[in-house]
Amino acid sequence: MTRTIRASCLLLALATSALLSGCERPPVNSVQHGYRGLGMVEVYNPRILAAQAANNQVPEALPPANPDGPKASQVFKNVKLLGNLSVGELARNMVAITNWVSPKEGCTYCHDAQNFADESKYTKIVARRMLEMTQNINANWKPHVAATGVTCFTCHRGNPVPKNLWFKTPGPDADSRLAGNLAGQNAPAVQVALASLPNDPFTPFLSQAVEIRVVGKEALKAGNRQSIKQTEWTYGLMMHMSQALGVNCTFCHNTRSFAQWDSSTPQRAVAWYSIRMVRDVNTAFLDPLASVFPAHRLGPMGDVGKVDCATCHQGAYKPLYGANMLQGYPELAGPAAQAVATPLAAAAPDGQSDKVLVFFLVGRSDISADALRAIALAAADITAHPGQQVDLSGFADKTGNADANLELAKQRAIAVREALKVAGVSDERIHLKKPEFVVGGTEADARRVEIALAK
Ligand code: HEC
Ligand code: HEC
Ligand code: HEC
Ligand code: HEC
Repeated sequence: MTRTIRASCLLLALATSALLSGCERPPVNSVQHGYRGLGMVEVYNPRILAAQAANNQVPEALPPANPDGPKASQVFKNVKLLGNLSVGELARNMVAITNWVSPKEGCTYCHDAQNFADESKYTKIVARRMLEMTQNINANWKPHVAATGVTCFTCHRGNPVPKNLWFKTPGPDADSRLAGNLAGQNAPAVQVALASLPNDPFTPFLSQAVEIRVVGKEALKAGNRQSIKQTEWTYGLMMHMSQALGVNCTFCHNTRSFAQWDSSTPQRAVAWYSIRMVRDVNTAFLDPLASVFPAHRLGPMGDVGKVDCATCHQGAYKPLYGANMLQGYPELAGPAAQAVATPLAAAAPDGQSDKVLVFFLVGRSDISADALRAIALAAADITAHPGQQVDLSGFADKTGNADANLELAKQRAIAVREALKVAGVSDERIHLKKPEFVVGGTEADARRVEIALAK
């Protein structure tokens, strides 16, 4: 009798430990993250945190270099971005880049040691683009990276190829399966924290600007895309975001209502910007590098490795737990954008917002690279709101020939319309307004087109 009891106790213990083997061993720490009683609690495993500490050691900044003497642009042949630094400062920057990206390989990872001006290594061309990308993140995406910013180290951590990146996956072949298109489901994928969710939430949400919100606004309306299927894609992205930051859903949401912004935490608004920033980085900076990388470095669909939340965050709620490396390397803070552009929803992450301003050079109606970036962001926001109409107004000032100025204002509005169409906004949704003269303001303010959400 006692034997059977003992045996069944043993079995029970075995079964319990088998059941719990997927769980984390106690003790875990919990930190209250919202009003008490709301269950907005972050659960941290101290052992995982300890293991992460090593990956988040910040290298000390190099001693400052002498800013005097000739500029790098006067001494060297091919410095297109860092020409304003002194020769000493350029050398310091090169040593830092080497430590962050190719410490084992050294300078020759990007350079021909006989001729540093040579441009034949693809890594040097990529590195120049990376410099521009880093400056763009720091200068134009402050709503996400704040003054903390990023350096090459944030993503690379001493590796030429960052540890966390993603490639497009060849979609499942819908025709060849009786079960239809599984959207990569039922095959637990690391990208979505081993959940059985669509395994590539990155292509639609972090490269394209597919709508993430899933709560339908109208019941049973024809054309309402909100569905369980779509919700699964959104959950795939959310699992990735939580895992990449090492946080629970309640870091951003009050789970009483995932959709509601006014009961979400401030971190959710920061995350809203992150999604737009990552799309900008992937489409404007990384995609165009596909022709620069050798074929063996590209993914199965011929694309370049792209950024997701884990590329910078690597399991921490702020990359490197918020350490500011950028202040030691002001050249990476970047020249501020030339075109002054306020993202459409800058004032309201909720998407209910006002205007993007696109500025032009004197007498010209072509769109600068910076303006294009602002337009692409605006387009992402517009396409994310089906049915939203857009007004385009060109402005002119009265100096010089007024008629010619109005015509130029019209041409500029047309140029912006074409750029919006290229970025996926359909023609019917765009309305050109009559060009207007501006009242007050400087002449530079007048050379603009406003993209406004029609009420
Ligand atoms: C990860 C790639 C990378 C590494 C590693 C690197 N560089 Fe550079 N280097 C560049 C890029 C990109 C430029 C061009 C910058 C620009 O256009 O403003 C450059 C420019 C230079 C120039 C100017 C050459 C000219 O005449 O135009 C010198 C000199 C230089 N690097 C020295 C070094 C030294 C020394 C090291 C090692 C301590 C080093 N670099 C490591 C990417 C790299
Ligand atoms: C936001 C993250 C991020 C930052 C910041 C960043 N990189 Fe990169 N880097 C990437 C990604 C993603 C790739 C693409 C890897 C691929 O396609 O395999 C890459 C690739 C590279 C490569 C090509 C490596 C190879 O062997 O093919 C070089 C060189 C490079 N980066 C240099 C730099 C330098 C220099 C800086 C700082 C000025 C920098 N990166 C900043 C994400 C970043
Ligand atoms: C780092 C912050 C963050 C974390 C963590 C996070 N979310 Fe989100 N979530 C967001 C943001 C931002 C949006 C809105 C995206 C947009 O509008 O482009 C969103 C949207 C959603 C939506 C759609 C709401 C609607 O309006 O239809 C759902 C559902 C959701 N999240 C569920 C989750 C779940 C479940 C988790 C945990 C697995 C999670 N989220 C973790 C930031 C976060
Ligand atoms: C280019 C690097 C980079 C990428 C990629 C990135 N982040 Fe961040 N993120 C940062 C930096 C830097 C900070 C710290 C800003 C600060 O100090 O306030 C930050 C802060 C945050 C915060 C605020 C944390 C807090 O406690 O206030 C959230 C939330 C966040 N990121 C979410 C995301 C999500 C979600 C993604 C992917 C869609 C993402 N980030 C991608 C660099 C990045």
